[in-house]
Amino acid sequence: MSRKIGMWLYSNSGGDKIQDKIVKKLKEREIETITDINLRHAVAKNGHILHDKLKVDTLDLFFSYNAGEQTQYQVFLYQALNRVIPMINSYDSFALTEDKFQTSFLLRQNGIATPSFKLCHRDDTQHLQTIMKKWSKMVYKPTDGWGGVGLTKIENQATLDMLLPFLNQMDLRFFYVEKFIKYDNTDFRVDIVDGEFVGCYGRKASKTDWRTNVTAGGSVFLREPEDKVIEIAKKAAKICGSDIAGVDIIYDMEKEEYVVLEVNGIPAFATPAQEKLGLDFNKKKIDLIVNMIDRKTKKSKK
Ligand SMILES: Nc1ncnc2c1ncn2[C@@H]1O[C@H](COP(=O)(O)OP(=O)(O)O)[C@@H](O)[C@H]1O
Ligand SMILES: [Mg+2]
Repeated sequence: MSRKIGMWLYSNSGGDKIQDKIVKKLKEREIETITDINLRHAVAKNGHILHDKLKVDTLDLFFSYNAGEQTQYQVFLYQALNRVIPMINSYDSFALTEDKFQTSFLLRQNGIATPSFKLCHRDDTQHLQTIMKKWSKMVYKPTDGWGGVGLTKIENQATLDMLLPFLNQMDLRFFYVEKFIKYDNTDFRVDIVDGEFVGCYGRKASKTDWRTNVTAGGSVFLREPEDKVIEIAKKAAKICGSDIAGVDIIYDMEKEEYVVLEVNGIPAFATPAQEKLGLDFNKKKIDLIVNMIDRKTKKSKK
């Protein structure tokens, strides 16, 4: 086999089975896969990045699909590696989508609706007071979070006044806040691979929370998206340069439009339990990923 790729894919929640299928399908196309390359255990030495004895930089492509949260070390090597070999997602796209402010900023620049947002310097807190008067409710968001962790709904001036001393203690560089969107507590998670629509499901927040994340008690349900929702997700993935994207979308009841909350660069495959529920997009997703790897490695061989 002349083509060889590296892969790092999560193994929990059915990830191991997904990995087996991808490896098998790549093999049918005479592409060999070296799995479990965790850059945490890699070392850069002169012009090479070594994982055990493997020179990762000599691979035809690296497919990185594990943990939204990677250590600074892993991200550092991700960046270096992508200077010399193709990666899915590209480092630029990965770094962009890891940051909610950078993503929303770029989406808005390109005409995609997002919740109104503001970013201000940590010493500029009087700005937050002004914003609060205008928006009446807002969401404080860590720009690099996931799973709804750290999101704080600020319902009135008193909550803001109470929160500020805590935020000030946290040694942040800036504050990122969004207008709180009035919505029906459900969202769309739309998966896009290589510019194609893969699948969609909905999540509904629990009775006691305003966040739809499963980690915040939300539940997954089958959901057919309108064409409009698919179009928005495709555009968002393209703008972010994401080969693989899971786009979170909600419907703003006041503005009567769909808004993009964030773009996830490592959206999970349907878990075995979700597959039983009827989420049946895994096969399509695997096929699109395999096709894309095939195409991208052909190019790099020339
Ligand atoms: N501006 C907003 N207005 C109302 N609800 C929001 C807003 N932003 C986020 N949410 C809720 O919080 C959840 C998590 O937000 P999101 O931006 O997707 O971050 P995470 O990376 O933590 O999933 C969303 O699924 C949605 O339910
Ligand atoms: Mg989300």
